[in-house]
Parts: sequence; structure tokens; C-alpha cells
Amino acid sequence: MALIELKHLTKTFKGKTQTVDALRDINLDINQGDIYGIIGMSGAGKSTLVRCINFLEKPTSGSVVIDGKDLSTLTPAELRKLRQEVSMIFQHFNLLQQRDVRGNIAFAMEIAGMKRDAINKRIDELLEIVGLTDRQHNYPSQLSGGQQQRVAIARALATNPKIILCDEATSALDPTTTTSILNLLREINKKMGITIVIITHEMSVVESTCSHVAIIDNGTLVETGRVEDVFSHPKSSAARKLIFRKTGADAPPLGKRMIRIVFEGNASSEPILADLVMECRVAVNIMHAETRDVGGKAFGHMILQLPEERVQQEKVIYYLQSRSIHVEEV
Ligand SMILES: Nc1ncnc2c1ncn2[C@@H]1O[C@H](COP(=O)(O)OP(=O)(O)OP(=O)(O)O)[C@@H](O)[C@H]1O
Ligand SMILES: [Mg+2]
Repeated sequence: MALIELKHLTKTFKGKTQTVDALRDINLDINQGDIYGIIGMSGAGKSTLVRCINFLEKPTSGSVVIDGKDLSTLTPAELRKLRQEVSMIFQHFNLLQQRDVRGNIAFAMEIAGMKRDAINKRIDELLEIVGLTDRQHNYPSQLSGGQQQRVAIARALATNPKIILCDEATSALDPTTTTSILNLLREINKKMGITIVIITHEMSVVESTCSHVAIIDNGTLVETGRVEDVFSHPKSSAARKLIFRKTGADAPPLGKRMIRIVFEGNASSEPILADLVMECRVAVNIMHAETRDVGGKAFGHMILQLPEERVQQEKVIYYLQSRSIHVEEV
């Protein structure tokens, strides 16, 4: 049985003058441990779909079954409990500005009625997981976008959810920060077995991070499956449009982007670049290098020029970060 089952889900918004069929007969199974990407153009129905998954939005018809429970049969109290198991993070972080990092992470646990000692202990663990221990007394306005999203992730993890829903969680972030947030989500998925649903309009997010993908077009799911299958053989025209799109508002050509990579005692610099070219199958130009080999370990930095395509750039940055190499924009 799938962890999340959507069956014949529809959502219609009825206004005074017009009716919008935001979701039409959506059928989707998401299994425990998946990182499931849901991708589509603006207005396709992505946010509506993800809001239906935790019943923030009530479907017009059809059902949402989570862990065997049909949400329409739950009492309000049961629904509140379920929402602790289905956390959500957003594009604009939605942090409480008057509370510091600890206070924001504490929030969901206070609502859940946890004891102060237990809350404090859990906050310490969560700060460690998201790498913000040294920022615990800062307020949101003192943090970068990426750091604010880490706080939101810690808050989402606080109640030990089974599922995290992300609605455009990286859309307000620059590419490098996007990659580091996606790495964190992958780590959470792998280490804690949490199922993650990622709503995005960016192909590169799905390609670098998701195990499965559903393509939504005008309220209808037009294609679903494993990322490598859908990407290598897109069947629908909506999928082909998203996958083969090279330019457009969602994927601005960034030009020849430069990054600096810093070696702080990695095994050695050459194999890493050779592996990078082999594994990512992209050409990078070394514009500048100052590395020293000290006892077989590399120290120093290099400036690389990345290919023009954004997906390829993401691949390179993701690869380097996954090898624990520090990457910064130049
Ligand atoms: N509360 C609402 N009342 C009326 N129409 C709505 C409401 N919420 C969404 N819609 C409509 O439903 C459709 C799908 O909207 P939705 O926000 O789910 O799209 P989306 O794929 O998330 O788009 P974006 O990428 O721009 O965030 C749109 O036509 C939108 O105008
Ligand atoms: Mg949306």
C-alpha cells in the first residue's frame, strides 16, 4: 500500500463569474521513502494539489488516503494530529519574525503540548541536523534565505513527520543555495526515511533530487514515473515541453557561470575533476588554479567556468557538494 494515495481527486473553485477546474481526476501513489517531484507550469494546479494532500484544501471529490487513513473520515482533532505527520515548507519560509531561530523551531512542539525540557533537547538535535547551531539566537531578518529555509526545515522536522511537503521551497533561492537545501532534503530522506514531495517548476530540481516525478498540465496529471524513465522517454507534449525547454522565464540562460571550488585537504584535486567530467558528462574549463599537494592532500582553490545550460550547472555543483567540496559563486 502506498503511503499517499490520491484517488480520482478533483478540485473546482467556483467564483461569482467563473469556475476553475484546478485539479481533474488526479490518481497518484507515492510510496514511503520516495522523493516525489510534481512539476508543471504556473497555474497548472501544483499548489492546490499539495494543499489537498494535507487537507488545507478540501477536495471537491475523490479521496486522499495517507497511511491507510482516508482524510475525509477524520475528526478535526485527528486531522490536526495527522498534520504533525505531514509537515510543509514554503517558498517564502513563513517564519515568525518576532521569534529567534530556537523560538521558531519550538513553535510546532509548543502547539503539540510538549514539555519545555523535551522541546529544548529536540531543538538542539534539529539545529545540528540543519547546521544552524551557531545561529540559534538570531532572528529571521538576520539570516540569509537559505538559512531561513533551514529553520523552516528544522521546524518541519520537529514533530517527527512521515512526510514533508515542499511547495517551491527553493524558488526564492540562488542556484548554489538551492543545491545546498536540496542536499539537506536528500539527506533527511535517506537518514530518516522521510517521504518528500517537492512541488517545483524547475526541471533541474527534479533531475538532481527526485526519485519519481509527476507532470501536471492544466489540472491533469499527464505523466508519472521514475525520473530517469520520464526524462529519457517523455511521452506527453507537456513533458517534452518542460524537459526540452532551453529558455523561457523559468530557466533563464545564466550565461557562462563561474564558481570557485575550495580544497581543504581533499584526497587530491585531479581525480575529482576527472570524476566530475566522467560522471556528469559535462565540460568545465579551469580558469585559474592554485592548489598545493601536501602529503597527497589538496589545498587551495580553483575557478571553473561551467557550461551555459542551467541543468548542467546544477549537476556540477551538486556533484562537487556531494563530494564535500566547498563551492562558491564568483
Ligand atoms: N482559492 C482559489 N480560488 C479560486 N481559484 C483558485 C484558488 N486557488 C487556486 N486557484 C486557481 O487554480 C488554478 C491552479 O492554481 P495553483 O495555485 O494550484 O497553481 P500552481 O501550479 O501552484 O501555480 P504557480 O506555479 O504559479 O504557483 C489556477 O488557475 C488558480 O487561479
Ligand atoms: Mg503554486
